[in-house]
Amino acid sequence: MLNNEWKNDPEYVALVSDLLADPSVQKLGEYTQHHNSTRLEHSISVSFDSYKIAKAHHLDYKATARAGLLHDMFYYDWRTTKFDLGSHAFIHPRVALRNAEKVTSLSPKERDIILKHMWGLTSARPKYRESVIVSLVDDYEAIREFFTPIRNKVSALIKNVG
Ligand SMILES: [Fe+2]
Ligand SMILES: [Fe+2]
Repeated sequence: MLNNEWKNDPEYVALVSDLLADPSVQKLGEYTQHHNSTRLEHSISVSFDSYKIAKAHHLDYKATARAGLLHDMFYYDWRTTKFDLGSHAFIHPRVALRNAEKVTSLSPKERDIILKHMWGLTSARPKYRESVIVSLVDDYEAIREFFTPIRNKVSALIKNVG
């Protein structure tokens, strides 16, 4: 689940506000990503957490924030849609890149961040450290978002014990 910490970071908000205002980005809020989160919430989490890490490492946090937000711009349910041409892991970064380019112009680094965010599975190696950060944070968020409902259930249950 997404907390709203990012809203209290004016520098982050300024970096992504034009993207967030775009209807095609808002539309990501209509898709479930993992159990308890929409694709928009997931994308903001990945973007904001990656931005903070990139900033702490004196990397290009602007490109990280923007491309992180656009890394999953696809509009189908990945749990049910099957492709003839390849796996979801291979295809959706390419779909996302095409959709992202309709929203804003992308630098080579931003393109790499979007395209390589599944590199562990699709074997295309990232060219930039920022791409590695977004990819790792994406994995981490997927696990966290998947387990959050269970975690909440467990905390509710253990409160009643002892
Ligand atoms: Fe993805
Ligand atoms: Fe993702």
